[in-house]
Amino acid sequence: MSDMNRRDAMGMAFGTVAAVGGVFALAAMKKTWDPLPSVKAAGKTVVDVSKAEENVLYTEKWRGKPVFILKIPKDFVDKQAEIEKKRNIVINGDHFAVMLGLCTHLGCIPSYRPDTHDFLCPCHGGEFTISGIDKKSPPPLPLEIPPFKIDGTKLVLGEAGPEYKKLKEEGVIGKQPLRSKLS
Ligand code: FES
Repeated sequence: MSDMNRRDAMGMAFGTVAAVGGVFALAAMKKTWDPLPSVKAAGKTVVDVSKAEENVLYTEKWRGKPVFILKIPKDFVDKQAEIEKKRNIVINGDHFAVMLGLCTHLGCIPSYRPDTHDFLCPCHGGEFTISGIDKKSPPPLPLEIPPFKIDGTKLVLGEAGPEYKKLKEEGVIGKQPLRSKLS
C-alpha cells in the first residue's frame, strides 16, 4: 500500500471509530435524558417507572417542585443501612428512592453522584445518602418524601396511599433528623 493509501485507510478507520463512538455517546446521553412517561392532572403527577434504569436520576415535576426518582441498584440495596431500606419505595420488586429534590438547608437542588451513590448539595456541601438521609451537615433533615401511592408500575405523587401512611407511622417521614440512625 502506498503512503497515501495507508493514510487514507487510517483516516477512514479513525473516522468510523469516531462515528461509532459518537453514536454510543448519543445513545448514552439519550438514555440519561429520556424522561419517564408521566401525566399531570389535578395536583397529581402519575409516573410509570417500569422503564426506569438503575442508578439513573429522573426528575419529575409535582406541584412546581422537583421530585427525584431513582431506581436503586439491586446490589447496593444490600449495602444500605436499615433506616435507609425503610425509606425505599418498593414497586414491582424494585427499590426506588423518591423524594423532593430540594435541600433541607436552604433549598438548593442536590446533584446525584452515581459512582458513590449519594447526593451532594452544591451550595454549602451538604450530603445525603441515596435514600435522602442527611449524612453531612448543614442540612438538618432528610430530603422530604412527598405523599405517594403505588398503582401497579405507576407512582402517583400527591396522593397518600397505604405505603406512605406506613412510612409516616414508622417515623421515617416527617420533620426529624435520621443521621444518627445511619450506622
Ligand atoms: Fe444545601 Fe445549604 S442549601 S447545603
